[in-house]
Amino acid sequence: MSPQVIDFSSPSNPLGPPPIVDEILLDSVRSRAYTRYPDYEYRAFREAIAEFYNVDPGSLVPLNGSAEALQLLIPVLKPEVMVSLEPTFGDHRVQARLAGLPLVTIPYVVKGSRFEVDPSVYCNLPSEFRTRSLILLSNPNNPTGALTPKRVLEELLSCSKDNTVLVVDEAFSDFTGNRESLLGLDDDRVIVLRSFTKIFSIQGLRVGFLYTGSRRMARLLDGFRQPWNVNSLAVEVIVKLLKWDGLGEYLRATMEVVEVERLFLEERLRSLGFEVYESKAPFLLIRHGVPHPHFNKELLENGLFVRDASTFPYLTPYHSRVSVRLRGDNIRLLKVLEELVHRSTLEGVHA
Ligand SMILES: Cc1ncc(COP(=O)(O)O)c(C=O)c1O
Repeated sequence: MSPQVIDFSSPSNPLGPPPIVDEILLDSVRSRAYTRYPDYEYRAFREAIAEFYNVDPGSLVPLNGSAEALQLLIPVLKPEVMVSLEPTFGDHRVQARLAGLPLVTIPYVVKGSRFEVDPSVYCNLPSEFRTRSLILLSNPNNPTGALTPKRVLEELLSCSKDNTVLVVDEAFSDFTGNRESLLGLDDDRVIVLRSFTKIFSIQGLRVGFLYTGSRRMARLLDGFRQPWNVNSLAVEVIVKLLKWDGLGEYLRATMEVVEVERLFLEERLRSLGFEVYESKAPFLLIRHGVPHPHFNKELLENGLFVRDASTFPYLTPYHSRVSVRLRGDNIRLLKVLEELVHRSTLEGVHA
């Protein structure tokens, strides 16, 4: 993508990385941290995460981005079925296919402008699909932004049978102040995946972790992860960042800007005639009257790029995911969309 194009496709913190990240990385390079293996046990990394999120360091497994989790979970847990709540992050489907696992997809139910999980759909599956299985759900979900309440997650668990594990991907949870998060839950049927990518806007560093309510499970998974899977520079950034005294203020400002700008975009998009779904994440799923690839082409010609959401199950060429950015960029997007709607209306195509 040309640097002139404003990227509304990749959701992350609109404030960009905390200012201290550059400093930490420069110090790490000066001290040539990259010439040393990271600590195989990742003690300081675990301690920093445990202290920040108030969890037991023995219940954590370091990850090379949360996307690494399924590559570890599938061969170690050896599920016989994967159940995925869709539409969601595509890697779940890729990993199921790679492992040759049957994949059951359960659609979210759309109620007005909300995507909701109906646990009765899962509870009514034949019992072989609820036994020795992995249930995968992202919370908040990508690409819809829907936040599923804990009580619904508990209902899913109550219908699951022997050796089923609920894997909740919480890559965007920090943006909600960890509302409905299962991090710290003392239940060995739950695994939580966490990413530092989105909240700190550090896509290239590849760093996250997994939490499980069972220390035994954490030790088992830890024993099978790739050695030194998180690199030395990423470790230094996370250890120092989680202790940085400006972090509380950065997170507060992040939540505020995301909420204010999401609401601004939501209201303006609705008034232009777009359907906008309820989101608790730093992006919005929208429905428009002009389908992809035309919609994307029109925006690209105006220097804007949004995520074509038609590649997600149950969505259509009329769906796009739009990241929440800072006000100037958001106004630019709205202006281009307004012109597009105006032209489409003249041509008889309504948003
Ligand atoms: C729901 C979800 N989980 C995980 C990831 C990947 O995160 P990471 O960069 O930590 O691997 C993404 C990336 O878009 C995502 O949307």
